[in-house]
Amino acid sequence: MPGPFKPESISKPLLKWYDSQQRDLPWRENLDPYRIWVSEIMLQQTQVATVIPYFNRWMKAFPSVKHLAQAKLPKVLKHWEGLGYYTRARNLHKAAQWVQEENAGALPQTFEGLQQLSGIGRYTAGAIASIVFKEPVPVLDGNVKRVLSRLFRIKENGATAKSEAVLWDWADRLVPKKKPGDFNQALMELGATVCLPKKPLCLLCPLLKKCDSARHKEQDHYPPPKPKTPSKKIEVSAAVIKRNGKIFIQQRLHKGLMGGLWEFPGGKLEAGETPETALVREIREELDIDITPDKRLLTIRHTYTKFRVTLYVFQCESPKGRIRATECEQWKWVHPADLDQYPYPAANVKIVKHLMQNGAPTNSRKKIK
Ligand code: ADE
Repeated sequence: MPGPFKPESISKPLLKWYDSQQRDLPWRENLDPYRIWVSEIMLQQTQVATVIPYFNRWMKAFPSVKHLAQAKLPKVLKHWEGLGYYTRARNLHKAAQWVQEENAGALPQTFEGLQQLSGIGRYTAGAIASIVFKEPVPVLDGNVKRVLSRLFRIKENGATAKSEAVLWDWADRLVPKKKPGDFNQALMELGATVCLPKKPLCLLCPLLKKCDSARHKEQDHYPPPKPKTPSKKIEVSAAVIKRNGKIFIQQRLHKGLMGGLWEFPGGKLEAGETPETALVREIREELDIDITPDKRLLTIRHTYTKFRVTLYVFQCESPKGRIRATECEQWKWVHPADLDQYPYPAANVKIVKHLMQNGAPTNSRKKIK
């Protein structure tokens, strides 16, 4: 741990740098608490460049808490499609309804009060309270962890609750009474644009003279690496079933992974199965009908946070018999042109794009009257 230091010796040069270098971002146009709230939720685990178009579309669709509270959940999820971690969207919607119905449309105005809302934890409450309400409370995201670890040569990466608590303490000691919101954003921005994970741009850093790891030429040693668990690989088959010109989609159960999103029916390959045999089994289990995988339409590889999926997509013969879907919220036959009206997990979005660009498959069976 370094000797005693004055927090101003960090905050002063950092704030000066932020004044001239801060990025022009749509949520920095004003300090509307709702806009800051939405931006901070979207920015969790997601890069600024990815968030910008989502944020702009969101604000057009739901310009205020009231609009969001009154919107139907599927529309909200549709506007989140592709951002991942859908619980964030569900929580935003739920919290907006609480704010609208129970709090006269106004967000709580303190760090403590904000944490009463669904989906707002210490990080988001810290960001909103400091940026909008000028409360001197810290934030700690991945970028801030890296900056602090390097700046003070702290041997912590925040991978455990204990390690994270050490870094929160440092962030708390630094945050100034004046301009806490600018200070927090500056720390995050420095991590995102200068204090990069690999090859940090130290010559551009306003804190170079203060940086303990730079002084020791040990920037690469901080933060210490996290133990990596290899991401799990799974193989899945999915069916594009067409009947009378419409395509079958089903809504995942609200509870659980990617809950409430829509998808093409199918499931994981089990040991010894081919994509085709797995699909026939899954469709029999899920829909109580027998299909024939007719043609492999495409193979999709997609990396989610926790696993990598290879998705085999088959066009299927129109099945005989009545569908009885038991493992979904609801199901629908949808005209191909309307497929993009529903929210899907990222890998299924790729199927929808394919079908809409290439035209939905025509099955060889005669139409069922
Ligand atoms: N990352 C998350 N929130 C941010 C903000 N307000 N400014 C810069 N980077 C961020």
